[in-house]
Amino acid sequence: MNAAAEEAAWTRKDLVGIEDLSREEIELILDTAPQFVAVSARESGIKRVPLLQGRLVVNWFFEPSTRTRTSFELAAKRLSADTLGIAASTSSLVKGESLHDTLANIEAMRSDIVVIRHSYAGAARILAERHSSHIINAGDGFHEHPTQGLLDAFTMREHIRRTREDAHAGLDGVRVAIIGDIAYSRVARSNIWCLTKLGADVVVCGPRTLMPPRVDEMGVEVTSDLHHAIGEADVIYALRMQLERQQRCLFPSLREYIRLFRIDNESLRAAPAHALIMHPGPINRDIELAAEVADGRRSVILRQVTNGVAVRMAIMHLLVNGPGEQQTRLTARDTDEPLC
Ligand code: CP
Repeated sequence: MNAAAEEAAWTRKDLVGIEDLSREEIELILDTAPQFVAVSARESGIKRVPLLQGRLVVNWFFEPSTRTRTSFELAAKRLSADTLGIAASTSSLVKGESLHDTLANIEAMRSDIVVIRHSYAGAARILAERHSSHIINAGDGFHEHPTQGLLDAFTMREHIRRTREDAHAGLDGVRVAIIGDIAYSRVARSNIWCLTKLGADVVVCGPRTLMPPRVDEMGVEVTSDLHHAIGEADVIYALRMQLERQQRCLFPSLREYIRLFRIDNESLRAAPAHALIMHPGPINRDIELAAEVADGRRSVILRQVTNGVAVRMAIMHLLVNGPGEQQTRLTARDTDEPLC
């Protein structure tokens, strides 16, 4: 753990976005996660520690999810919490109950952490301001997806540390090219906040019609030239085309998009040989990312998923138990002895 992160105090009740976080808070999360990578990687024994024993984690998803929902559920179980999933379509929300009333009822059953994904930007923050549970934003409209941004930064840093053989390397000066549908991507927003706070050089690239207004004010370079964007990139991050969020056709055709922006073996000729390939999933195969690249040797897409469990364990642990050195580092008993 670096000096800045060691001094950082975790005082937040909730995690609703990365825009609010300081560099020290982000580094505290990233530096808390490796011990949970080790828990999940155990070859023998139970992949579980008792840090949230007796706590209740509620997964409340209003939009489809594979990775985030299962990752939170697994993370909670690996921290020994009880878990509950609420499907919006079969809850009393369909009878007109408000979000606040629904959450008040969940809290009456003593929830500790509520993980929410909602199509409304700001939903997590509104609930966090009125309710006592720790609220974690699992994606709100096209606003933020903070745990995705954190697991992505963790995965980049893990790779940089390994390739440079430097256990303390950070992302300062690392060039990250984020390609595709920036305007409708909560992943892009959280990654931009996270990576720029960590000192990375971020370039965003896509059709002008898929760039949000004033994106340059977020401290990134903006281009529509893919070869320029990836020419010196250490990391190439392809975004999913958010076809379900686009209300009108914002580029001439998918064929045109593929010709200009798809990451494939042909376009990768412009990139350095060491450039890492990342994607948040789910992939529209052969639209934003060619199958040969998604499954190729430079891809760490499934490593992102693996790390997501550890990063979410770190976040839930920090929210509930706080950051103290005693509490943040697992004890020998926690790491070595399986729970019955
Ligand atoms: N990356 C991501 O949020 O995937 P899911 O939509 O499957 O959760």
